[in-house]
Amino acid sequence: MMQPTDVATTIDAAGWSGANGDVWAQEWQRTDRSFADLSVHLNRAVREAMASGPIAVADVGCGAGGTALAAASANPQAQVTGIDISPALIAVAQARAGATPNIRFVAAAVEAAIGAAGPFDLIMSRHGVMFFDDPLDAFTHLRTATRPGGRLVFSCFRAAADNGWARETMAAVGEALPASDGYAPGPFAFADETFVRGLLAGAGWVEVNARPVDFAYRAGAGDDPVADAVGFFGRIGPAARALKVAAPAERAAILERVRALCAARMRDGHVDFPAAAWIWSARNPH
Ligand SMILES: C[S@@+](CC[C@H](N)C(=O)[O-])C[C@H]1O[C@@H](n2cnc3c(N)ncnc32)[C@H](O)[C@@H]1O
Repeated sequence: MMQPTDVATTIDAAGWSGANGDVWAQEWQRTDRSFADLSVHLNRAVREAMASGPIAVADVGCGAGGTALAAASANPQAQVTGIDISPALIAVAQARAGATPNIRFVAAAVEAAIGAAGPFDLIMSRHGVMFFDDPLDAFTHLRTATRPGGRLVFSCFRAAADNGWARETMAAVGEALPASDGYAPGPFAFADETFVRGLLAGAGWVEVNARPVDFAYRAGAGDDPVADAVGFFGRIGPAARALKVAAPAERAAILERVRALCAARMRDGHVDFPAAAWIWSARNPH
């Protein structure tokens, strides 16, 4: 194992509206696949929170649109609005939705756009709410864009240490686990249950509930699952960050360590890593 170094794991709005969003747009099939097992749990929570009939639903940080499309199909009378700061991801989402009548996508920072796009009966998100510069302000905007009694349902990662896909790749490339105190936008920004509970309460949400969910993070599949997983990790996450800053002579060694990790996780034609998320729900009282 390499000696851990502090690498910037912060991913903020500027990253998502630029290069990071572009890579996710190119990799949308593999990112969707990595979250597919989590989606089973999240989609169920969304369906439970979603009233029947002609309601308005927002998918915040909707990315390539998979969860917005699932909501639109779960309630064909719902009008679903996917909002994302990445123009590249919104272009993918629009292409996937085609002529689906009850869905639209908006390319914008959600803090600025949600008020004009609402009001909503349900705001949902799969891992799209951990990147705000000012999360208290953002969750207050989400609440005021929600009708009285309206619901909030979202998923986010628990700690990096509980997420094998992150812990193991970080160890393999010598990246230190992110700090668990303080807020910095990024994939593990909402790992701390107490912090998020206080944030939601501070933004005026009530009936705040957190449910831990463990899921299989699928990194590789197909004809050569290990090569597929190495290709995926080489584009997104700790290994991608390490490759970006590595000297050319170091790259092969990094890829070999990631390959060995993925080979050790290969079972039944898939490379799956353990992953840990929260599913949060809350209600707007007024
Ligand atoms: C981890 S990705 C999740 C994408 C998608 N929900 C999914 O499950 O595939 C986070 C998403 O949040 C979006 N995002 C980050 N900050 C945002 C903001 N301030 N306003 C709107 N979207 C934002 C990113 O562009 C990105 O698509």
